[in-house]
Amino acid sequence: MVMTGVKMRRKKNSEISRDIGLEIGWICGSYFLKMDHLHYGYWTKDLPVDIVNLHAAQENYVKFLTSHIPEGVKTILDVGCGTGQLSKDLQSMGYSVDCISPNAFFAERTRLLLGNASRVYECKYQDFVTPDTYDLVFFSESFQYIGAEDGIAKSNSLLRDGGHLMICDFFRRPVLDKCALSGGERWTRFNETMEQYPFVQVADIDITDATAPTVDLLNDALQQAIQPTMALAVQLVASRHPLLHKLVHRIYRRKIEKINSKYFSGRMSGEDFKKCKSYRLLLYRKGQAAGPEAVKQTASNQGVCV
Ligand SMILES: C[S@@+](CC[C@H](N)C(=O)[O-])C[C@H]1O[C@@H](n2cnc3c(N)ncnc32)[C@H](O)[C@@H]1O
Repeated sequence: MVMTGVKMRRKKNSEISRDIGLEIGWICGSYFLKMDHLHYGYWTKDLPVDIVNLHAAQENYVKFLTSHIPEGVKTILDVGCGTGQLSKDLQSMGYSVDCISPNAFFAERTRLLLGNASRVYECKYQDFVTPDTYDLVFFSESFQYIGAEDGIAKSNSLLRDGGHLMICDFFRRPVLDKCALSGGERWTRFNETMEQYPFVQVADIDITDATAPTVDLLNDALQQAIQPTMALAVQLVASRHPLLHKLVHRIYRRKIEKINSKYFSGRMSGEDFKKCKSYRLLLYRKGQAAGPEAVKQTASNQGVCV
């Protein structure tokens, strides 16, 4: 069954920018690099670190993740399903998959990919309510957008007893240095929150080294292709419309400086990523006890976005 959730809440500006960033990344990545996913991929030792191999690294990541799905799992909730390709892979492996996507563009693509066998809920995980429970709640590089408290409490309520929670994502290490790359839930906060819930850890695999090369590739693309292209576009506008160029520059000076420092300073690197982040595959089994937060359930027999 195909679900179209009702989007009741307005998105924040930061969420709109992030959504558009992900969409641009995917449109360019899928066109130029045949990318199917939005995650960093997994660079095995035998795979040369080259942008043309990002597609292969992403396939490695899917293999790595799916090889850790526990036996006996039949129903999966893929939270933050992105392009829907990973859900499609799971469906092809015989799992029954439902998806959550707050992004209309990706939700629509996922519906087309998965067809009527899956429900695609178009809302934030925080706004999703269902009386259903799942064998596995699955986050592939989406946990950081939801955060520890909401992510763990909601997953606890949506898992059957003995069900599993799988999170593959990067976390922020407690370092004092300034990091070039933002994002990631705080590792210490994650663990402190986890302790309050009845989850038993089954696996914790650090894959930071296998994911970091993607940051170098991204940095390279920004320095070698995107920045020079943008500089030429600005040069063109400045020569054709000098007044407009001056005005835009004056009004958005601070924003332009921020973008330059974040993306074009060259500070973003695999080494910086390894120092500041810890990318992990985490698997937990839910025990019998109830968690501190119970999520209100509806009387209907399918999920809704509230
Ligand atoms: C980096 S992408 C990963 C996509 C996909 N899981 C993959 O591995 O390719 C992050 C995803 O999280 C989703 N997301 C962001 N905030 C969310 C929220 N509050 N609830 C559910 N999903 C969210 C985004 O729409 C996006 O699809």
